[in-house]
Amino acid sequence: MTQKKQIHLAAHFPGVNNTTVWSDPASGSHIEFESFRHFAQSAERGLFDFLFLAEGLRLREQGGKIYDLDVMGRPDNVSILQAMAAVTSHIGLAGTVNSTFNEPLDVARKLASLDFLSGGRAAWNVVTSWDEFTGENFRRGGYLPKEKRYLRAQEMLDVAKQLWDTDGGEFDIHTDQFDITGRFPVPRSPQGHPVIIQAGDSEEGREFAAASADAIFTRHAEKQAGMEFYADVKGRLAAHGRRHEDLKILPAATFVLGDTEDEAAENARQVQYQQVSPATAIAFAEQVWNRDLSDVDPDGPVPSFDPKTEDDVDSGGHISKGRASVRQYRDPVATAREWRELGEAKGWSLREVVIAKNGRHTFVGTPQRVADTIDDFVQSNASDGFVLVPHITPGGMDPFVDQVVPLLQEKGSFRTSYEGTTLRENLGLAPVRALSQS
Ligand SMILES: Cc1cc2nc3c(=O)[nH]c(=O)nc-3n(C[C@H](O)[C@H](O)[C@H](O)COP(=O)(O)O)c2cc1C
Repeated sequence: MTQKKQIHLAAHFPGVNNTTVWSDPASGSHIEFESFRHFAQSAERGLFDFLFLAEGLRLREQGGKIYDLDVMGRPDNVSILQAMAAVTSHIGLAGTVNSTFNEPLDVARKLASLDFLSGGRAAWNVVTSWDEFTGENFRRGGYLPKEKRYLRAQEMLDVAKQLWDTDGGEFDIHTDQFDITGRFPVPRSPQGHPVIIQAGDSEEGREFAAASADAIFTRHAEKQAGMEFYADVKGRLAAHGRRHEDLKILPAATFVLGDTEDEAAENARQVQYQQVSPATAIAFAEQVWNRDLSDVDPDGPVPSFDPKTEDDVDSGGHISKGRASVRQYRDPVATAREWRELGEAKGWSLREVVIAKNGRHTFVGTPQRVADTIDDFVQSNASDGFVLVPHITPGGMDPFVDQVVPLLQEKGSFRTSYEGTTLRENLGLAPVRALSQS
């Protein structure tokens, strides 16, 4: 009998975003060791492929202030993953590390070290960053323009691979961005190359992933959108001499469970209203309108006036700084019109529109329903699995591990024990051959 397509799951530690519900009494610290330990060990108990940590290199601002959701920032994730290596034994440890502001030798050294400390469980989510605001923290005479960032990312990754392949030996590398010679201070690590993840969505980002990544972390979690993204990116692999199974596609999603469908729906409604408080609704609207909306009633209609555009911003650029969402609203006037029309058509308040437009994809239902849906998405090639982010830290993954994982196992589409010792093996990826051998 042929084996069913296997689901890959990753656990994203919740942080600075509006998935997180701070107000819940069960919500704990987002920075203490104990939270990371609980979360990582829970995901390992659920036989997840990897623990995923995002990165933010500057605290986001809204109107020049730090908004409640962003106040924690994100501690350095390679340090956290090193600590997690000591309290786990199978789960992969994936850290987001920027390619625009770092040097390849330093990143390669840290990730090879993590691969050693964890016995072959390290992964690098290569992000490029999009904003000058973050760049100000690192500026050495100007920010790298958008079109150059993926060129640097590709060169940085290629150089890192060459360094890993030296096996602690000499290197002499000259590219457009890098002129480096010396001896790499770490021998070849257990995976050879830590697993490479990519998380950008542009044409350049998709090409970079198709050429060089082992996994993509994407926002395309709805079934239809997921199938389109999946077909697009997997369709690019052959041109790079790669096979369908060489790249795993993992959308971000969250979940809300209940004993009955009605209870789950009611739980989900409550979580949504906790995730988008009245103040958060206004903060999100300000990102579109690009002006102070503190006088607007979040439980009233979507504002009837238009956003400020880049041309008529008084001073200081955008009101919201360091957020990806600002990039999503490339045409704020059209976004405002769309929100207004949605509010009018559905009779929704501003807050209800924000909830509808800003939530992550959420699997809602009984554990059986959620298991069935996840399995259906994966078997339909809408993804190869999911990066799950619960709304509670650190215990939010526990109900999924206890109630949904056993049902996925019963279906034969999720492992009952780890297949290998390295992350690369557990993801079903081919071993890395040193560049000199390929
Ligand atoms: C699901 C997802 C998660 C991301 N997580 C991070 C992150 O934690 N830190 C970061 O700096 N950028 C993050 N990014 C940004 C991207 O890696 C990338 O730098 C940005 O989207 C610009 O690339 P693009 O134009 O190809 O989208 C994320 C993007 C996506 C789609």
